[in-house]
Amino acid sequence: MDVSVRRVAAAATRALRLDVLRPGRPPEDAVYPGDDEATSAHFAAEAGAGAGREMVGIASLYAETRAGGPAPGWRLRGMATAPSARGAGVGAALLNACIDHVAAHGGGELWCNARVSASGFYARYGFEVAGERVEIEGIGTHEVMRRSVSAAPGVACGDGRP
Ligand SMILES: CC(C)(COP(=O)(O)OP(=O)(O)OC[C@H]1O[C@@H](n2cnc3c(N)ncnc32)[C@H](O)[C@@H]1OP(=O)(O)O)[C@@H](O)C(=O)NCCC(=O)NCCS
Repeated sequence: MDVSVRRVAAAATRALRLDVLRPGRPPEDAVYPGDDEATSAHFAAEAGAGAGREMVGIASLYAETRAGGPAPGWRLRGMATAPSARGAGVGAALLNACIDHVAAHGGGELWCNARVSASGFYARYGFEVAGERVEIEGIGTHEVMRRSVSAAPGVACGDGRP
């Protein structure tokens, strides 16, 4: 699949967020705290050709240090691939864009509250479990997963995020 990833405004992620991550819920459930902060970054993966090109995946990053985790921290949220596009590298392309963004902003801890059904996906990319499993009502069982991201060459270490 010919997939490209680009940075988008939070609003552009909401339809897919609602469809995949909050099905049957009201639209406001697809609005996450910090979505419009200047330090937040949202990515969309697109596939297809010409007029048929469509958004098939999304991921968002927030400048948020994990409770008990090292600073600076970046929280990954809203990671989703449209059901028809799964298993084709869309999630990997989005996750790599997020890792690159953290590296370009000085590196740090990248973490997420992972659905256990997706834990294997994150584990493939170097994430490890960092906490107990917790049931989130209506959404499912989650566990915190984390990995370190080094600063990109030429980028000062530390909290380099704008
Ligand atoms: C999890 C999710 C984002 C993965 O997206 P995807 O586009 O299918 O992932 P990719 O095709 O890029 O997969 C990359 C690799 O991870 C593996 N993988 C994907 N989903 C996996 C899972 N749930 N468990 C274990 N491995 C998984 C793939 O097999 C692939 O491995 P390979 O490189 O050896 O072939 C997608 O399944 C999804 O949107 N799920 C529903 C929403 C969700 O749970 N989001 C995460 C919220 S925490």
